[in-house]
Amino acid sequence: EKGGYDHFMLKEIYEQPRSIRDCMRGRIYPNKGLVQLGGIKEYVEKLKNIDRIIIVACGTSWHAGLVGEYLIEEYARVSVEVEYASEFRYRNPIISEKDLVIAISQSGETADTMAAIELAKEKGATIFGICNVVGASIPRITHAGVYTHAGPEIGVASTKAFTAQVTVLTLMAFYIAQQRGTITQSKLIEYLTELDEVPALVERALKSNDQIKVIAEKFKDAANFLFLGRGSSFPVALEGALKLKEISYIHAEGYPAAEMKHGPIALIDENMPVVFIATKHSSYEKVVSNIQEVKARGGHVIAIVSEGDTIVRDLAEYVIEIPQTGEAFVPLLATIPLQLLSYHIAVMRGCNVDQPRNLAKSVTVE
Ligand code: M6R
Repeated sequence: EKGGYDHFMLKEIYEQPRSIRDCMRGRIYPNKGLVQLGGIKEYVEKLKNIDRIIIVACGTSWHAGLVGEYLIEEYARVSVEVEYASEFRYRNPIISEKDLVIAISQSGETADTMAAIELAKEKGATIFGICNVVGASIPRITHAGVYTHAGPEIGVASTKAFTAQVTVLTLMAFYIAQQRGTITQSKLIEYLTELDEVPALVERALKSNDQIKVIAEKFKDAANFLFLGRGSSFPVALEGALKLKEISYIHAEGYPAAEMKHGPIALIDENMPVVFIATKHSSYEKVVSNIQEVKARGGHVIAIVSEGDTIVRDLAEYVIEIPQTGEAFVPLLATIPLQLLSYHIAVMRGCNVDQPRNLAKSVTVE
C-alpha cells in the first residue's frame, strides 16, 4: 500500500508531479489562455464585485493561504487577509456580503475552520472551500468550491495536499484576474504555459533527494533550525519549519528573512542551521545580504537556489537547486526539498514519520 516506499509521507512527496497535474486537469488551457473552475463558475459576477477576500484555515492549510494572498493580490488585485480560523471565530470580525471567504482544509473536517465558515455565513459572506476529501463536512457547508484532487493523504504531515492547495490558489488567482480584467491575455498564456510545466519541474526537484540525505545526516542532531524567505517564499519557510517540528521534534521557526535583524539574529551561532529560500527572483539580492549576515555570525547556511546559481553557491555551506521558473510558481518547487529534508531528518532520528506523537490527521476538536 506504500507502493514500495518506506513511509506514506515519502510516497506522498513523490506523488506530487502527478497530484499537481491531476489538480490542474481540465482546468487550464494554456494555448487559449483560459482557466476554468467549474465549481465556482456560478459566482463569476460575484467575483467581479467583491471588495475583499478573507482566507481562513489552520496549520499547513493556513500556509497555503498565505501563498494565495501573494498570488491573488499580485494578479487579481483584490485585497486578501489570511486568518487562523481559531482566531477569526473568536473575534467579532468585520464581514459583509461584499466579502468572499475562502476556507482551506485538506480533511474538510477541521472544527475551527468549520466554525469560522458558519460565522462568516451568518454575516452574509460568500464562502468557497478548497478541500481534498470529497464530500467531507466543509464542502457541504460552503456555497461553492474547488477540490484539490490530490488523492488520499495518509501521512499526518501534509505534503501533496499542500502543493495541491497552492495549485488551486494559483488557478483561482488567475481565474479571478481573468474575470476582473487585471491580467492581459498574452500574460495569461505565458503564465499558464509555465504552470503546465510545473509537474515536470517538480519531478526534477525530487532528484535532489540523495544530496538532501547528506545534508540531513549533517544536521540531524541540531536542537534548532531557522527557515527564512521573502515574498511568497516566506510562507514556504513557515511550512518548512512546521514540517520539521511536527515529524522530527526539532524546534524550528520560519521568518520573513528581513525580520531576522529584529530579533532572531540573536540566536545565530555555530550551532544554528539556517535554511534560506534564495531563488533568482525579485528579492534575490536582499536575501543574499541576509545570507551574508548569517554567515558573519557563524551560522550554517543551507540554501534553496535556482539552477545555475553561482553567487549563493559561493556563500552557502550547502545549496539545493530547483529548476528555474516564474516567480508565481516558486512555492510549488521550493517546498519539495524542504519536505525531503524534514523527512530524512525524522527518519534518521528514529521518529514515527507517518504518525508523529500528539498529532491527529484531522483536528475535529477545537
Ligand atoms: O485538514 P486541514 O487542512 O484542515 O488540517 C489543518 C491542519 O491541522 C494541518 O494542516 C496540520 O497542520 C498538518 N499536520 C500539517 O502537516
